[in-house]
Amino acid sequence: MQDIHGGNIWRWQETSNRNLLDFSASINPLGPPQGVFRVITENLSNLIHYPDPENRKACQALSEYHGIDPSHIIFGNGAMELLYLLPRALLLQNALIPVPTFSGYEKALLHHAVQPKFINWWVREEGKGDYLPSPFSLALLSSAAREVQGVFICHPNNPTGEVLEKRFLLNLLDFCEEQKIWLILDEAFIDFLDQPNTYSLIQEAVFSTRLVVIRSLTKFFALPGLRLGYGVGPQSIVQRLKQAQTPWSVNVLAQQIVNEILRDEVYARDSRRFIQSERVFLLNALSEIEGIQPVSGSVNFLLCRLTRSGWTSPQLTTKLIQSGILIRDCSTLRGLNEQYFRIAVRTREENRKLLSTLQEVLSE
Ligand SMILES: Cc1ncc(COP(=O)(O)O)c(C=O)c1O
Repeated sequence: MQDIHGGNIWRWQETSNRNLLDFSASINPLGPPQGVFRVITENLSNLIHYPDPENRKACQALSEYHGIDPSHIIFGNGAMELLYLLPRALLLQNALIPVPTFSGYEKALLHHAVQPKFINWWVREEGKGDYLPSPFSLALLSSAAREVQGVFICHPNNPTGEVLEKRFLLNLLDFCEEQKIWLILDEAFIDFLDQPNTYSLIQEAVFSTRLVVIRSLTKFFALPGLRLGYGVGPQSIVQRLKQAQTPWSVNVLAQQIVNEILRDEVYARDSRRFIQSERVFLLNALSEIEGIQPVSGSVNFLLCRLTRSGWTSPQLTTKLIQSGILIRDCSTLRGLNEQYFRIAVRTREENRKLLSTLQEVLSE
């Protein structure tokens, strides 16, 4: 089976000739905040204009939200656009990627012919099937990072759901500053944590000379089709990123909704509560299925290990598509193998559908 990435629902629906329930892309199952639809409707008439090339309204809203100066902020057509601009803006010739993690970093580096270097940072504890950072991870990471110019860290990590202590990240940042290594911290999923600010390094990115924090607005606010993300870092780098960016990459509608989504605190609170309780429900129910070991996640997805003999993740993925469900096969993800797949946390009814289909398929 071909590599199936989260978000490729279009292709698989066409090939399977049916509607699929998408557990492959990790998106807030509650959908976007209600105000988004009003703002988009109100702004449809603005489609006749080019977007503001400086994203001023969006930058202002974000600057108030984080309490940082707009000169440290860059918006992008999703976090992905910024990840693809970074190797060039930071003049990287190589960079370190602790795996397993999001495959986009490797692709972004290779896009600029920059050589990635990998370390297996998340190691599996014998007997538990759980991915955990190795006890000497900072030492391991720092020794591997010595010969590189950049380090990509996904926090919380996709697909393991790993959450790192702030102290650990601050130590890593100190190390990177001392050694003049760029730390690219991707906080695409951090909004799903209970207190994102206690984990985030956004404030540090304003004062640091070596840190760029990347955030996505497509996951927590369920807007992957609209494309919206941002980066926070030193002014000089933000300037360089802007120069490297395609003009008008953030569309008029995306620019208008930033203020709306950031001030909807009820949506944020309800989403966190809902997803947390559904994650626990899914985790417990999956643990009951013989042959599946979920890795305890922290956000809106769960990495699972398939231990049923005779089954691989690509086989399971194909079978589930035939039953109307798309999961993320992780067999080709660096650092994992044919036993791993990832599922998004969705609504109770959808989660039950996944659970019953998994049980049916595996008992065939
Ligand atoms: C860890 C991580 N970072 C960034 C992205 C890109 O997000 P966006 O939709 O904002 O481009 C993804 C998408 O799956 C992701 O998983």
